[in-house]
Amino acid sequence: MAKARISLGFLLLFLLSSPLPAARADKRFPVNAWPKPTSMSWAEPHMAMPVSRSFHVVGPSGNAYLLSAARRYAALILAERYRPIVRPAVTVAAGGAELRCLTLAVSDLHAPLEHGVDESYALEILPTGAATVTAATAWGAMRGLETFSQLAWWGDAAGRREQMLLLVASGVRVEDRPLYPHRGLMLDTGRTYFPVADILRTIDAMAANKMNVFHWHITDSQSFPLELPSEPALAEKGSYGEDMRYTVEDVNLIVDFAMHRGVRVVPEIDMPGHTASWAGAYPEAVACAGKFWLPDASDWPNRLAAEPGAGQLNPLEPKTYQVVANVVNDVTSLFPDGFYHAGADEVTPGCWQADPSIQADLARGGSLSQLLERFVGSVHPLIVSRNRTAVYWEDVLLDQTVNVSSSAIPPETTILQTWNNGASNTKLIVQAGYRAIVSSASFYYLDCGHGDFVGNNSIYDDPRSDYDTNGGSWCGPFKTWQRVYDYDIAHNLTADEAKLVIGGEVAMWTEQVDAAVLDGRVWPRASAMAEALWSGNRDAATGRKRYAEATDRLTDWRHRMVVRGVRAEPIQPLWCRTRPGMCNVVR
Ligand SMILES: *[C@@H]1O[C@H](CO)[C@@H](O)[C@H](O)[C@H]1NC(C)=O
Ligand SMILES: *[C@@H]1O[C@H](CO)[C@@H](O)[C@H](O)[C@H]1NC(C)=O
Ligand SMILES: *[C@@H]1O[C@H](CO)[C@@H](O)[C@H](O)[C@H]1NC(C)=O
Ligand SMILES: *[C@@H]1O[C@H](CO)[C@@H](O)[C@H](O)[C@H]1NC(C)=O
Repeated sequence: MAKARISLGFLLLFLLSSPLPAARADKRFPVNAWPKPTSMSWAEPHMAMPVSRSFHVVGPSGNAYLLSAARRYAALILAERYRPIVRPAVTVAAGGAELRCLTLAVSDLHAPLEHGVDESYALEILPTGAATVTAATAWGAMRGLETFSQLAWWGDAAGRREQMLLLVASGVRVEDRPLYPHRGLMLDTGRTYFPVADILRTIDAMAANKMNVFHWHITDSQSFPLELPSEPALAEKGSYGEDMRYTVEDVNLIVDFAMHRGVRVVPEIDMPGHTASWAGAYPEAVACAGKFWLPDASDWPNRLAAEPGAGQLNPLEPKTYQVVANVVNDVTSLFPDGFYHAGADEVTPGCWQADPSIQADLARGGSLSQLLERFVGSVHPLIVSRNRTAVYWEDVLLDQTVNVSSSAIPPETTILQTWNNGASNTKLIVQAGYRAIVSSASFYYLDCGHGDFVGNNSIYDDPRSDYDTNGGSWCGPFKTWQRVYDYDIAHNLTADEAKLVIGGEVAMWTEQVDAAVLDGRVWPRASAMAEALWSGNRDAATGRKRYAEATDRLTDWRHRMVVRGVRAEPIQPLWCRTRPGMCNVVR
C-alpha cells in the first residue's frame, strides 16, 4: 500500500508539473538540434542513455573561453529540465552505460574569434558512453557543445514515468559547419535603451542559435547612451537619463560575455545622419538640430529627418571631425572586433539644406554628395588606421541623392549592408565589387507590421487607408518566420557574385520595442534566419524548401528556448505539434 502511494505521489507530481498533454512518441523528429546540422545520423533503433549526475566536459587547457564554455554547458545540461512536447521514441538500455563526460578535442586552440574563423565541428556520442566534440577551433567546439546540449532531455526510461531522468541520444554522429560566416542580429539601443541584462540574454540566445555577430546599433538621433572616455558629454547630454547609459564596464561585460559564447560584437555609431542626439553636447556640429522633422506634412521629400528627431553632423564644421575622431578612437578601443560599423544611412537632404553654412556651400556650387564624400573620405581612413574593416549601410553608395563614389570607400576595407529593394540591391553591391551583409527590410526587419509610432496622422481617420498601409508601418506587413526562413540571400546572383555575400543580419529597430517585448519580437524569427544561414532552408536530398518539416522542429526549439528563459513567441498551438501533420494544409 505504501509503495502504491509513493508511485501515485510521483505520478501526481509528474502530472502537476507537466503543462503538456500526455505526449505521444514521435519517430520523425525524436531529437532536434536547431539550426539543423549539415549532417546528422542516429543509428536505428534510436537509443538514449542516462547522463550521470557527475557529468562534466573535459577540454584542453589553454583557452579560458573554451574552459568556461565547457563548465557552463555541463551546468546547463545538468540543470535543464527540458521535457520535449513529444516524447522521443527511444530505447534506454537497462543497466547500460551512463554518460559521464564529453571530451573536447581542438586542433588550433588560439585561433582568434574573427570574421571567417573556422566554426566546423564533429560530434560523436557512442552507446558505450564515450562522447567527443572535435573541432578546428575553440569557437567550433562551442558550436558542438550547443548541439550536444540540445540532444539531451528530461525523459523517462521505457515509459516508466516514475523514473524521470536526464537522457542523451546515443549512436549519434554530427558533422557540421556554417554556410555563411556572418550570422547576425542587429539591436537598436538608440531609439530604446535596453538594460544590460536584456542584451546579455539576447546574446546568450544568439549563441544557442549558433549566431555569431551581435551588431550593436548603439546610438541614434533619439539617444546617445554610450559613455565614452574622451567624449563624456555625448552621453551626459544625449542619453535618456543617467540610468540609461552604457558605462565602459557595461561594454566590457557585454563584449566579454559575447566572447565566451563565440559571438562577436560589432559596434555601430551611426553618422553623419541619425545624430540629433549629439547636439546636446555639440550644437555647432549638428545641422538642423531641434527643428520639427516634418515642416510640411504634404511635402515629404523635403522633410528634415527620416523620422522624428532631426539633426545630422555638419561636414563643414571642424568641430565635427574632432568629436568623430575621439568617438572612433574610443569605440575601437572598447570593441576589439575587426569590423566597425560607420552607419551612413538616410542622410536627409532637407536637413543639410536647412543649415546656413551648407546653404552657402551649395550656392558656391557644392553638392550634397560632395559633402557626404568629404565626411566619409575623412572618417574612413581613421577607421582603417585602427585596423578595422568599415561596414556601412548601402545608402552610402546607392542613395539616389546623397552618395559617395567608390574611391572614398575602397572595397578592400569596406563592407556594405543592404536593406532596400530585396535581392536587387544585393546584386548592385556585389557587382560593384563589395562584400555584402544582407538585411533586406522585406525579409529580415523584425520591427515591420506593428503600425507606426508617429501621431496625428490622418491615415488613422480612414480605416481602409490604415488597412492598406499596414497601419502606417512603412515596411509592413509583419515578417513571419516563414518569410525569414525562406529568403535566399544569394538570390539571382552568379556563383562569383554570391561569394561576396558574407551573410545576413535580422534587424531589430526599436521605435516600438522595449525590454518588455524584446524576446517575443526577436525569437523565434531570428532562429529562422539562423538556420537558413547555417545549414540552409532546403532539404539536402530533394533541394526543396524545408519549411514544412521545419515547423515542428521550430516549435520544439521555441519550447526549449522558453525553458531556458527566453520568452520567444509561439508559432502554433500545442495541438498541432502533438498531432503530427494534422495542422498542415496538405498531408
Ligand atoms: C589587424 O586585424 C587583423 C584581422 O582582424 C589581425 O589579424 C591583425 O593582427 C591586426 N593587426 C594589428 C597590427 O593589430
Ligand atoms: C548618387 O548621387 C548622384 C547625385 O549626387 C546621382 O546623380 C546618382 O544617380 C546617385 N547614384 C545612385 C546609384 O543613385
Ligand atoms: C493634428 O493635426 C491637425 C491638422 O491636420 C491640427 O489642426 C491639430 O492641432 C493636430 N492635433 C494635435 C493634437 O496636434
Ligand atoms: C535578376 O537580376 C536581373 C538584373 O541583373 C534582373 O533583371 C532580374 O529581374 C532579376 N531576376 C529575379 C528573379 O530577381
